[in-house]
Amino acid sequence: MEESTIKTIGVMTSGGDAPGMNPFIRAVVRTCAAYGIKTLGIEGGYEGLIHGKFREMGIRDVSGILQRGGTILQTARSKEFREPSGQREAIRQINNAGMDALIVAGGDGSLNGAQKLVAKGIPVVGVPASIDNDIFGTDMCIGVDTALNTIVDAIDKIRDTASSHNRAFLIETMGRASGYLAVQAGIVCGAELVLIPEYKTPPEEVANAIEDAYRRGKSHAIIVVAEGYEPHALELAAKIDAMDIGFSTRVTILGHIQRGGKPSAFDRMLATRFGVTAVEFLIAGKTNVMTGLQGTEMVPVPIDDVISHTKTLSAKFIEMTKILAK
Ligand code: ADP
Ligand code: F6P
Repeated sequence: MEESTIKTIGVMTSGGDAPGMNPFIRAVVRTCAAYGIKTLGIEGGYEGLIHGKFREMGIRDVSGILQRGGTILQTARSKEFREPSGQREAIRQINNAGMDALIVAGGDGSLNGAQKLVAKGIPVVGVPASIDNDIFGTDMCIGVDTALNTIVDAIDKIRDTASSHNRAFLIETMGRASGYLAVQAGIVCGAELVLIPEYKTPPEEVANAIEDAYRRGKSHAIIVVAEGYEPHALELAAKIDAMDIGFSTRVTILGHIQRGGKPSAFDRMLATRFGVTAVEFLIAGKTNVMTGLQGTEMVPVPIDDVISHTKTLSAKFIEMTKILAK
């Protein structure tokens, strides 16, 4: 490997954690080592950056983490960093530590934060990591596949008890502003209905769909509800239960189990490719970009483009949820 002109890279995980962040850290550290670059691990996202919580990481420091959920660097949501004063502190710490560039893995918010550093002259490569899969410029983010597999496992189990008791289940998946996980889970779990924040479905329509499933002789109804759908699943359950829909209703909120657990093979590979690519982009002078998976390729997507666009849900997948619910 040729020696790089970049001598020190800082790496952090930020925002909501996502399964695969550890394989990402491992890939960054080991790729840096291969090119003779020092890696400084930043603990606790932007909060740790502001307070200079750095530790040098060598190849042995990332042994045994490939299969672990969470992030060994920890993560945070930092109010301080949202302010120009926090960003100024962060830049001071970056300069004091002699960091030539930064690699930030996180969701939409973290990439917005990265752009603030870019605007002040810090070379950054962003890596999309969020179970929501709501980041423009990449087909997939770190953590999505593992979260989806956790959801599928849970819904398969709920279906057993739903059938035994002839019940309708509202199952809430994560996704404050994104219905991606709900739609995908709805298709692969054979849900009767999927409710997402991107589309308004009034409670009366939900009740009709469930009653219709009852009339068609179904033994259960599975309704996948994204976190951001309104009204909230608990409120919706109370409303439709009062409408006499054949089935009685139960609600399961899957919650943070979706963010934990060992990363799937897909997420380990994606995170590893993103980690290696992020370092290689910096060495090649491609900065202020995010590593994007487009088709099968690793593509540099300008961070400005990422944060100024909204990723839309595929209309085809939404249509499929309706075609297949028979
Ligand atoms: P995620 O990265 O998972 O979307 P957040 O939205 O909480 O999670 O963002 C992570 C952190 O990024 C925030 O806690 C904040 O420190 C920083 N951040 C988010 N948006 C901005 C912004 N517009 N300007 C500066 N920093 C931001
Ligand atoms: O952005 C990832 C996500 O898991 C969202 O789907 C969810 O709304 C949010 O984070 C939950 O955040 P917290 O970890 O702060 O509860």
